[in-house]
Amino acid sequence: MTSCAPIGVFDSGLGGISVVRQLHAAMPNERIIYFGDSANAPYGVKTPQEVRNLSFKIVEHFAKLSVKAIVIACNTATSAAVDDLRNHYNMPIIGMEPALKLACDLGGGKPQRVIVAATSLTLKERKFADLMNRFTQNHKIFPQPCPDLVEIVENGDLGNKNIVMSALHKYFDSYDLNSIDSVVLGCTHFVFYRDYFREFLPDCVKIVDGNAGTVHHLKSVLESSGELADANNNGSVLLTNSDSSNRISELSKSLLNL
Ligand code: DGL
Repeated sequence: MTSCAPIGVFDSGLGGISVVRQLHAAMPNERIIYFGDSANAPYGVKTPQEVRNLSFKIVEHFAKLSVKAIVIACNTATSAAVDDLRNHYNMPIIGMEPALKLACDLGGGKPQRVIVAATSLTLKERKFADLMNRFTQNHKIFPQPCPDLVEIVENGDLGNKNIVMSALHKYFDSYDLNSIDSVVLGCTHFVFYRDYFREFLPDCVKIVDGNAGTVHHLKSVLESSGELADANNNGSVLLTNSDSSNRISELSKSLLNL
């Protein structure tokens, strides 16, 4: 069995395009419809209720487009809304959470010191507290909100090295980075900064994100329900956004092709 229905992917803005890139590369036969909510970004400084309301609106929009699955390519929206969305909609909804398990597992059993970079809302929500609780006995976790890293992407300043590096200094200079084992990019916007982080961090610090795991999870869910697209299908990516300006549409395309 196969299904040619599209997959809906959304984020508060442009960060989820980092997930779409990997999804399209790994599942080239799928039709992907992306919705970025840049008109309402950032989500990370809103209340959980505000983020839930916005997420419901987007999922309702996708439901009308008869998508076969939804990926919440946003750690923040996942923490605020995934449980309620799953209770309400009868379709696979794949969420994202900071890849803390992956970071701790990289230590092969040795205690790890891990910085989790994410939005304030993700780090304040119950889901993250539960996740932390699973690892704090054996590992030292440092939650680090980095709101400017969302704004820099949304403002189209990702190519401005001075702006990016001063933001990284602002958030990470207080750490003894040589004593850190890994940094988790717990926000999909931050995945675009991987090369900057690599340059900024000592070589011994690993950089971890949850994008590949999310794509892998989606693939196995669709495989088991017989809903993968046919291998002869030509996949596609349609980028849509609540901000219909030319600026956002050009920026979205350039992030997809980075
Ligand atoms: N990209 C989002 C995430 O993964 C949220 C960014 C924001 O809007 O604050 O958490």
